[in-house]
Parts: sequence; structure tokens; C-alpha cells
Amino acid sequence: TSTPFLIVAIDGGAASGKSSSSRTLSERFNLLHVDTGSYYRAVTAEMLRQNVRADDPAAVHAALARLALGTRVDGRSAVMTLGDRAAGDEIRSREVNDHVSHFAAIPELRAALLTYQRSQADVARAHGFRGLVMEGRDIGSVIFPDADFRFFLHADQVERARRRAQEGQQDSIAERDRLDSSRKASPLTCPAGATSIDTTHLTLAEVVDRMAAAIATKLPA
Ligand code: DC
Repeated sequence: TSTPFLIVAIDGGAASGKSSSSRTLSERFNLLHVDTGSYYRAVTAEMLRQNVRADDPAAVHAALARLALGTRVDGRSAVMTLGDRAAGDEIRSREVNDHVSHFAAIPELRAALLTYQRSQADVARAHGFRGLVMEGRDIGSVIFPDADFRFFLHADQVERARRRAQEGQQDSIAERDRLDSSRKASPLTCPAGATSIDTTHLTLAEVVDRMAAAIATKLPA
């Protein structure tokens, strides 16, 4: 019998521990790691490059129609390509941090990324992965509501600010989370039936172990 193709969804706010735990799980179970925040960031960087403002719907619409989205697999991670360019370090810039939540609130932009995100399962299959681990804000609620596993990570704000500062990131986490949680289109929320994990007092290893224990029941490491 063939091994199942597994979809693991991990949602949570900025600096909730999603990225580190997703990366670790991708290695442990040979899953494609898909950081959807990097997709919203890459599209935001492209909009800024084209001088498109989030409050100009006609310009956003026109720019979305011209986007040529593709995917490159780099090790175990999926990287968005726009035309012949792959998203790079610029997606972590201060400017992108400041604008990404505004672009991510636009329903038409989210709709454009919905199909693209679902198609990452085909990318994972084509590259021989045993599944994918996708992190974001609405993966368990909107993108893959039928995922095999849906986790929701949260941590108190003081601890998250400490983690980001330790990473040397200049970011207004509280403001982004406020925007991401209060928007009308697919707000950040723990979907019904998802496993909620408070990571405030847990180490990364402890968070990963909890998720890995669940995943291992369907897919041996
Ligand atoms: O995970 P991150 O901090 O890199 O995400 C950057 C922004 O992208 C975040 O502020 C909100 C948006 N985002 C989203 O709206 N939906 C997702 N699935 C992932 C990210």
C-alpha cells in the first residue's frame, strides 16, 4: 500500500513559533515547507516595486492580472517566483513589514493567492515529498479546511516581541496582528476543530514534539 499524502496546516500570529516548528516538521517527516506569509510578502514587495498602493483597487486589480506566479523548490522549502525572479531577502524589509497587512486584507488579492496556495500540494507531489506543512493565518480555516492536521499556535504578546527582537527583526507585531485579526477577509482565528497550542512557556522542541506525536500516528518519521 502507498503511504498517504499528508497536509499539515499551522496558523498563528506573527512570531508565534510557526516558522521554526514548520521547518523542523518538514525535515522530520519529509514534507514540503510552505510559508504563505512569504507569499503575501513577495506579492507586497512586487506591488511596492510597481508603485501600486493598497488603497488603489484599480491599480491592484491591474497588477494582479499581470502577476506570473510560479514556484521553485529550494531544499525542502517552496519559494514564490514572479516572472523570472524568485522572492529574496527584500520580502523581510521594514517597508514590506509595514505594508503587507494592508495588501493581505484585499479580498481580490487573497483570491488570487488561494488557488496558488492549493496548487502547492501538486508541487509537493511532483517533487516526491510525503506531504506538505503550510503555515499562515487562514490555512486551516480557508486554504485546507480538510487538512489531516490543523494546529493553531499562540503566545502572549510580550513573549512574541521578545522572540522577534532576538531575531533582530524590526517589526510592529502588535499592529500587524491587530490588522490581520480584524480584517473582514479570512481573519486570523483558530478554526473550529483545530488543535490550539499556547507556546508562551514551551520551547520550540516541546511545540514540535506535540505536533510530531500527532503526525506520527498517520505518518512514521
Ligand atoms: O507570517 P508572516 O508574518 O511572514 O506574514 C506576513 C503577513 O502576511 C501577515 O501580516 C498577514 C499576511 N498573511 C495572511 O494574511 N495570510 C496568510 N495565510 C499568511 C500571511
